[in-house]
Amino acid sequence: MQGWTEGYVTEIGYTHGFHVELLPWEMAAALPDAPIRPDQPFDYCELGFGQGFSLALMAAANPQARFWGNDFNPDHVAHVRGLADAAGLTNLTVSGAGFREYLHEYLPAFDIIALHGVWSWVGPVARADVVRFIDARLKPGGLVYIGYNVLPGWAQYLPLRRLMLEQARREDGSLPARIAAALDLAGRLEGQGAEYFRINPTLSPRLAQLQGRPAQYLAHEYFNESWEPVYFADIAADLAAIGVHFAGQRRASDRWEAALQAPAIAAAAGPGGDDPVFAELLRDYLTNRPFRRDLFRRAGGTAATPDPDPCWAALGHPRDLPRRATLPGGSVVEPDWELSHDILASLQAGPLPLSVLQARHGTAVPGALGLLTALDLLTPALPPAGLSARAMTAQRLNAVILHQALQLDRLQALACPVTGGAIAVDRVEQLFLQALHQQAASPPEAAWAALAAVGQRLLRDGRLLETPKQNLVELEERWQRFRQRRLPLLCSLGAVQP
Ligand SMILES: C[S@@+](CC[C@H](N)C(=O)[O-])C[C@H]1O[C@@H](n2cnc3c(N)ncnc32)[C@H](O)[C@@H]1O
Repeated sequence: MQGWTEGYVTEIGYTHGFHVELLPWEMAAALPDAPIRPDQPFDYCELGFGQGFSLALMAAANPQARFWGNDFNPDHVAHVRGLADAAGLTNLTVSGAGFREYLHEYLPAFDIIALHGVWSWVGPVARADVVRFIDARLKPGGLVYIGYNVLPGWAQYLPLRRLMLEQARREDGSLPARIAAALDLAGRLEGQGAEYFRINPTLSPRLAQLQGRPAQYLAHEYFNESWEPVYFADIAADLAAIGVHFAGQRRASDRWEAALQAPAIAAAAGPGGDDPVFAELLRDYLTNRPFRRDLFRRAGGTAATPDPDPCWAALGHPRDLPRRATLPGGSVVEPDWELSHDILASLQAGPLPLSVLQARHGTAVPGALGLLTALDLLTPALPPAGLSARAMTAQRLNAVILHQALQLDRLQALACPVTGGAIAVDRVEQLFLQALHQQAASPPEAAWAALAAVGQRLLRDGRLLETPKQNLVELEERWQRFRQRRLPLLCSLGAVQP
């Protein structure tokens, strides 16, 4: 499988996912001294952007900024160019160059360089090229976001991946056929009671999970020649060598849990506890999580002055608020329910500045905002200045996405001009929106007509709904939920124009 792609899979295109981690304003909100501010243009680069859907969403929601990126798979580049052309996005420039060649293209210095799902999926040569790119192209004070597979969280799965890769190498035929043969082999060994599976009880559920994933995903996740989860300490050292240092975790829930984990880390670390890199390494052992989302920062530059009165927008309905919740790292949290509920209710009509929320709901608001963000029910919003320009480009891309939903189940998010970000919106929700746009008398019936026209049916509890009647009943239920909770929210975020 070696060649011009250095062993990286190109036979099958990657999935069309939208990754919330890449959104620039949520990155900025993670730091007290972010390099970007809403009233100023900035330059953002995504390396190895896959199908480029996240990049297109960000460009559409932020016409004041410029977005750049590369991916050496020509189909990926064609896909994102197609989206940008169809939506008339003039602030998005993509390249089909590999990381090494991209460095020599005519590019600005970047405020943000982001890589999601790339670092541990490429070999040491490509990783060194990425580091050189960051060194040459990141502004002083600029941010780097990296999402990657980490050790020890992946430790017990490495031999499973090797087994599947070896089998795929031995087979002839298309990559999907070789992937199927590799999964079969792993299943056979597991069925024979192989000791490797017996002493690692988390393997069987993982294998079952893999058996349900599309070849498109598996090809890129497991069947590259290079696939190497790394230790946090190693990635931190690679970037420290070019003056780029760990600045914090990207996800609000990880930051919330970090505060809860601080005493355990201090107790384990002893005198070494004040070294942030060592503390992060210990955190990975404490949590055994498989994926990290990190922000790194180059020293220097002028940090943007934090907005003393930032705006906030709801990402959920008050009825989505749990009394008790388990964060991704396993910590159980209990929000101040009355206050959090009131904040979410206030934000249903649209974003509000902190000062207004405090005037309405009291001085405990900032603490509640932190946990609501960690629960993915809240996000920072941009000030109203510039909203109409953002809405224009976002609506153009959203129209392209909704139109595509009539045929394909691929692009599952819409751009949000209110936040300069995007929100996940599934295919059925998109079909409802398309029906509303076309003033259909019954959105569930219009959605069913669209699905039936391309020979598709819905799943309920993993079971295919066979008859038109079953599908219509399901769509009617989903429509009622959508109309009451999600539609007002999508309008408040500007993803849909009321
Ligand atoms: C696992 S995919 C992740 C894609 C995307 N970032 C995402 O998370 O959806 C890795 C991507 O990196 C690209 N890639 C791998 N090696 C590369 C290289 N040397 N230069 C440019 N792109 C590369 C692949 O084509 C692929 O799209």
